[in-house]
Amino acid sequence: MILIAVIVTVIVASVYGLSKVFTKKHDSVINNIKSVAPDFNWKVQEPLPIRPFVNKKNFNPSMGVKNIGSTPEDWLLIENTYLTNINLRVKTFEAVPEQTSFVNNNPMTESALREFYDILTIFLVQRYPMIFKRSWGGEITNMVTNETFPSKSDKLSNTQIMKLISSNIEEDFLIMHKDNPDDQSEEYILRASLNSFPAGFDPRVNFNQPVSFIHKPVPQYKSRLQFTMGKFFNNLKSKDMWVRHNWSIQTHSSMYNAGSNHGREGEKIQALKMEDIDFENGCFLRCERQVFIRLPKSHAILMTIRTYLTPIDKIKEEGNAMELIRGIDSLPDDLAFYKRRDAWGEAVKEYLRS
Ligand code: HEM
Ligand SMILES: *[C@@H]1O[C@H](CO)[C@@H](O)[C@H](O)[C@H]1NC(C)=O
Ligand SMILES: *[C@@H]1O[C@H](CO)[C@@H](O)[C@H](O)[C@H]1NC(C)=O
Repeated sequence: MILIAVIVTVIVASVYGLSKVFTKKHDSVINNIKSVAPDFNWKVQEPLPIRPFVNKKNFNPSMGVKNIGSTPEDWLLIENTYLTNINLRVKTFEAVPEQTSFVNNNPMTESALREFYDILTIFLVQRYPMIFKRSWGGEITNMVTNETFPSKSDKLSNTQIMKLISSNIEEDFLIMHKDNPDDQSEEYILRASLNSFPAGFDPRVNFNQPVSFIHKPVPQYKSRLQFTMGKFFNNLKSKDMWVRHNWSIQTHSSMYNAGSNHGREGEKIQALKMEDIDFENGCFLRCERQVFIRLPKSHAILMTIRTYLTPIDKIKEEGNAMELIRGIDSLPDDLAFYKRRDAWGEAVKEYLRS
């Protein structure tokens, strides 16, 4: 009798203890992720209609972050662009690996990258179980690309990890950390990045650079962003998830832009005529959906970037033409120059009105 009581007590205590260990371990926002509906079909998922200019009052550069920590299942998306974009990413990775993929060679960065990979595979299997099937052996098969990969990073090289992330999700990513994580005054430094779809800069310029250096070309950065951004990054909690969006117009169809979308100091920008622009295949609203989380073990910050190109016709069809015209006109001069408004502004407005 006593023996049975002891055994039961030991079992109960160890299960309780184990569950405590498990809850403690998952102090990340990526935990118990809700799956998409069982009939989810990626081929019919329309892209999120991100239109940051609609109803916007102030067009100066701003933080514009929103906490979506209560719906962590919205972290990374799979939409009808999935296979096209994955294929593009694989090609870019092979063509320009030195721009696309960067991992600083130090233990802190490597452990942050591995932490991201291990969280990512858990997320994908929980969120999209019909696409990412996990076998008993711990391998995951992507049912869209038919590729199989390990769920854990421990036996993978950095390059293999970067390739696998690039060929399974549409989002680019950045990992930032400090050299001394507890130093509030130290800046976050970009230590690893996957840039399959850079929006008009050469990613290499920013490798191993602090956030303030990276934003040097951004108008009003010092006056409006620097201080708040520093505080934002220092205070980012691992239970939170923050999202922000931005937008511009580009007059070509390329997702990959290492250096053509932005006006730079001293540059003279030629105005395009409406006839100069191919509105059917060569003019897009370019939006980014940026999500920020803190990796709980390494304390690094992870930013994922999802890029959307939306044809101007689509903006007209959905009835947002007047709002986009208002947005174009409302840009302050410095930001307008940065977004090259003098090149496309009048022509795009004319087309939106037509
Ligand atoms: C809350 C955080 C952030 C805010 C509020 C922010 C804000 C901005 C703004 C306003 C711009 C100008 C383009 C636009 O209108 O959107 C910009 C550009 C840029 N940002 Fe950020 N950003 C943030 C985080 C980051 C991080 C973490 C990185 C990389 C480590 C980054 C990299 C860049 C780059 C590369 C550009 C383009 C700069 C260029 O023209 O060369 N941003 N950012
Ligand atoms: C994956 O395999 C299925 C079934 O064999 C096939 O129909 C599909 O085209 C394959 N997908 C790719 C991207 O190769
Ligand atoms: C949006 O912001 C990102 C990073 O903050 C920057 O790299 C990109 O150039 C911006 N995109 C547009 C379309 O302005």
